[in-house]
Amino acid sequence: MSLSLAVLVSGGGSNLQAIIDAIEDGRLDASIKLVLSNKVDAYGLTRAANHGLPTAVLQHGDYDSREAFDAAMISTIRDHGADVIILAGFMRILTPGFIREFAPNILNTHPALLPSFAGAHGARDAVDYGVRISGCTIHFVNEIMDNGPVIIQAAVPALPGEDPGDLAKRILRYEHRIFPQAIQWLAEGRLSIDGRHVHVQDAEAIPAASTPGALVCPALDEGF
Ligand code: GRF
Repeated sequence: MSLSLAVLVSGGGSNLQAIIDAIEDGRLDASIKLVLSNKVDAYGLTRAANHGLPTAVLQHGDYDSREAFDAAMISTIRDHGADVIILAGFMRILTPGFIREFAPNILNTHPALLPSFAGAHGARDAVDYGVRISGCTIHFVNEIMDNGPVIIQAAVPALPGEDPGDLAKRILRYEHRIFPQAIQWLAEGRLSIDGRHVHVQDAEAIPAASTPGALVCPALDEGF
């Protein structure tokens, strides 16, 4: 079933771009009905405009409460005919009311291997902790931040002494691969949720993946 997406962004929108590219290449059966930002200067809005996609800006500072802001987002999203929510670098915590409105069709990308390093600074926190492997996670969203059932993860090595921004950039490349993949699985009706577990029905392994839902990036000595 072709999905009607609202993509929510707060910044650069490179994940949005990866989703646009996947749709335009025919790898993702979806249409973007709305790109919604809480920041007027988010570059994601420019990316959307470059592809003729509808955009809206709702600034949370203009609302008295989180509930009022989220109610405005719900009606804007509904007005544009979207019913699947893609959180692509959207840096606002959503209210339970927003999540109930669209659940389970809300997907988020997080730049760490959840449940490690939840929160706004996943890559930086992983570097500070000194992990050897980090990565990214695409998950369904529930009412607890960065907690919903995992759909797919990619493992990315963290280099000793690496600048957190460099690790974040390398992780981002893998977000761009696994996020469109997860959305396509949703479009194909292959995802079912059983408690904390997401079953991916008949998933063919994506390149370099040995298991549906797990992507291990090439080893460093293979030219990564
Ligand atoms: C991504 O790493 C995402 O996981 C995090 O913020 C970044 C957004 O990047 N929450 P972009 O705006 O998609 O380029």
